[in-house]
Amino acid sequence: MVEEPLPRLNLVTVTNPRSPVSEAFRTLRTNIQFSSLDRPLKTILVTSTDPGEGKSTVLANLAVTMAQSGLRTVVADCDLRRPSQHQLFGLSNINGLTSMMVGNAPMEGASIQDTIVPNLRLLASGPLPPNPSELLGSRRMGEIIAFLKDQADLVLFDAPPIIAVTDAAVLASKVDGVLLVVNAGKTKRDLARRAKLLLDKVNANVLGVVLNNVKLEASLYRYYAGQG
Ligand SMILES: Nc1ncnc2c1ncn2[C@@H]1O[C@H](COP(=O)(O)OP(=O)(O)O)[C@@H](O)[C@H]1O
Ligand SMILES: [Mg+2]
Repeated sequence: MVEEPLPRLNLVTVTNPRSPVSEAFRTLRTNIQFSSLDRPLKTILVTSTDPGEGKSTVLANLAVTMAQSGLRTVVADCDLRRPSQHQLFGLSNINGLTSMMVGNAPMEGASIQDTIVPNLRLLASGPLPPNPSELLGSRRMGEIIAFLKDQADLVLFDAPPIIAVTDAAVLASKVDGVLLVVNAGKTKRDLARRAKLLLDKVNANVLGVVLNNVKLEASLYRYYAGQG
């Protein structure tokens, strides 16, 4: 019998859980958990100002860290323009979120895939649609979010950058909290401010900023809590 080889993941929290970077993700996890004691955060959106700032990588590592703490975690790839979570987890993109939107496909048949990380499952993007913002703003999307919440302790949503297209802002108002990834070497200050304004406009609950790509000894990722 030939067994499918397990995908090898290039995620630091999987390959090197004792590294300082993985430790920083555990600090991020703790900070998120403490940021909302009264109202548990079940749905969190991760976005950034521009492409390539590391939001999908940060989200995947955060998801692994959450799953490692025993939380049943689902990653939902809502970047319907440049999805990458299926690649990060070595899985297929043939079925996913957009497949759940076509016709009256029953939720129970949803193609949520297991990853090699215990407690962590992936809803890939599915085939790319011509109208991502419209889909993400639809009533059906609200139903899908409710379904995913039912399936897990925590759902992390990947999304396109918030400045260029409205997708992330549309989703931001439907989730419990939003994390903004800022790249220390890249993100322009005024764009970060604009991103925050856009999130405020839709009444998003901005949990804080994840500062990625920081050249500090023993720490590549830092998290600043508060409304910064
Ligand atoms: N802290 C980091 N150090 C080095 N490379 C990084 C870091 N964060 C992200 N990357 C790399 O940068 C590229 C873009 O990251 P990605 O997470 O896809 O960004 P986004 O989702 O914001 O477009 C990827 O090749 C990723 O591996
Ligand atoms: Mg991405």
